[in-house]
Amino acid sequence: ELEPLPLMTLDFLQILNEVCEQCYRDFAPDDVEVKVREHILQDFETFLRCQVPGAKLVLFGSSKNGFGFKQSDLDICMTLDGQDTAEGLDSMAVIESLAKALRKHHSLRNILPITTAKVPIVKFYHTKTGLEGDISLYNTLALHNTQLLASYAAIDARVKILCYVMKVFAKVCDIGDASRGSLSSYAYTLMVLYFLQQRSPPVIPVLQEMYVGEKEPVVLVDGWDVHFFSDLKNLHKYWPGYKKNKESVGQLWFGLLQFYTETFDFKETVVCIRRKEPLTTFKKQWTSKHLAIEDPFDLSHNLGAGLSRRMASFIMKAFINARRVFGAPVRDFPPEYPNKMEYF
Ligand code: CTP
Ligand code: MG
Repeated sequence: ELEPLPLMTLDFLQILNEVCEQCYRDFAPDDVEVKVREHILQDFETFLRCQVPGAKLVLFGSSKNGFGFKQSDLDICMTLDGQDTAEGLDSMAVIESLAKALRKHHSLRNILPITTAKVPIVKFYHTKTGLEGDISLYNTLALHNTQLLASYAAIDARVKILCYVMKVFAKVCDIGDASRGSLSSYAYTLMVLYFLQQRSPPVIPVLQEMYVGEKEPVVLVDGWDVHFFSDLKNLHKYWPGYKKNKESVGQLWFGLLQFYTETFDFKETVVCIRRKEPLTTFKKQWTSKHLAIEDPFDLSHNLGAGLSRRMASFIMKAFINARRVFGAPVRDFPPEYPNKMEYF
C-alpha cells in the first residue's frame, strides 16, 4: 500500500542533494575533534598502564570508520601486552579492575562496569569533552569491521555522505538505539553499503570478494575470515565498476528509500555486504526474523535479531514515511531551519 509519488523534478533533486551534503557538513567532526579523541586515548593509556600493567588501548567504531559525529561515543578496545587473544583471561576480573582504575581518573565520571553483556564493557563519561564511551576487551572483530567500513568510506565521498544522512535519519526518527530495542548505527551503515553494492551500476564493490591473483591464505580471527581488498589506490585496476556510477547523493538517498520500501524483500533476503549474490533468509535459517542484517565477518551474528515485531514495523514505517517526504517536493518550507542540535 505504498502511495504513488509525483515525478521528481530536477530542481527538487538538487535541493535534496544539497540537504544531504549539508547534513554531512553539519555533523562531521573537524580535525581538532579527531585529534582530541586520539589525545584522550593516549592520556587513558598512560594513566591505565600505571594501574593495569601492559594495558594497550585502540580506538575503533565511528571515531575511526569514517562515519563519526561530533558527539559520537568513544569506542575503545583494551588488550594486554603479550596476550594475543582473550583465551584464558578472566574477563570479569579484568573489567572490574579496569573500572576500579578508571574511578581514580580525575576527568572521568559515571564509571559503570557491565559484565552481563555479550561483550563485557566499562562505560564512562569524560567531563572535559562531554563525551561518553566504553572500553571493551579483545573486541578484535570490531577492529576489523572498523577497517572494512573505513575502506568503503574512502572509496567515494558519496558513501560517507549517505551514511551520515542515514545516521541522522535514524536518530531523528528514534530508530537508532540498539540498547532500546532498535538497530545500532553500525547496522544502518551496513544497510547503506549493501544498497550501494546492489545499485546498478554499483557505487562500491564487494571488497570481501576481491582477491588479487592467487587466492590468499585465509586469515582467521576468532574463527572468522577477515579478508578484504584494502589496496584502494589500485582499486581502479581490479574493479571494472570503478567510477561507473555517476548519480548524485540526493538521487542515491531517494534511491535507497525506494530500495528498502519498494524493491528489497526483508522476508526473503538478508542484508549482506560480503557477497554480491543475494543471500536468502532461508539459507541462513533466519526466516523467523523480521529484518536480517548479517555481520560481514561474524556470519552467525544477525544485527536484526533483537528486534521485536513492533519495532521492525516501526522502523519500516519510518522508511515508508521518508520515501514519501523525500520523494515529493514541498510547497512551504518550515519558517526556520531548526537548530540541528535539537535533534539529539
Ligand atoms: N559493533 C559490532 N557489532 C555490533 C555493534 C557494534 O561489531 N552489533 C562494533 C562496530 O565496529 C561499531 C562499533 O562496535 O562501529 C561501535 O558501535 P557503536 O558505538 O554502536 O556504533 P558506531 O559505529 O561507533 O556509531 P556511533 O557514531 O553511533 O557511535
Ligand atoms: Mg560509537
